[in-house]
Amino acid sequence: MRLPLRRDGTADLAAHVTGPGILPIPSGLLAPGASEALFEAVASIDEVPPGRMLRVTHGDLDLLLVHTDLGLVVTDDRCPHMAAPLSVGGLDGCEVECPLHKGRFDLRTGAVVRFPTTGGLDADGVYRAPWSPPGAPAKPEPSDDKARARAATRVRRLRYYPVRLRGATIEVAFPA
Ligand code: FES
Repeated sequence: MRLPLRRDGTADLAAHVTGPGILPIPSGLLAPGASEALFEAVASIDEVPPGRMLRVTHGDLDLLLVHTDLGLVVTDDRCPHMAAPLSVGGLDGCEVECPLHKGRFDLRTGAVVRFPTTGGLDADGVYRAPWSPPGAPAKPEPSDDKARARAATRVRRLRYYPVRLRGATIEVAFPA
């Protein structure tokens, strides 16, 4: 096996890891400015075992570091619906569930796999009706201002940040 080399040609043992993989960033969903950003250490791999999520704060940016069963991935820790912190939601494999309106997102693709209960607009601007969990009363169609605001709220696309593992240290690229 060939190890990565430092600039002086010697083997970079810190870069050789046998830890979890890194999920590829879905096409078109890299956060603005992230491609030129510098990597910074955010956590030890021991702090984020498989199946766990961790909020990482950098300045006014709150990111969600997830150790899925397919590897590490980093997105905004803001639900693309109404900005609730996904880090206090649920994780099932590669799907994260928002704690506020049960929106569910696939971290492998950024796709919405379950629309929020409030209904509203999807990322393409198509209206989706509200829905109710089994056993709960059906939601009425929007009639007051609050309901109309919900109906006009668009579920944005998740944004992703580059992440890498150096030895046991997880590093994330933060846009300036
Ligand atoms: S804020 Fe996340 S589904 Fe509404």
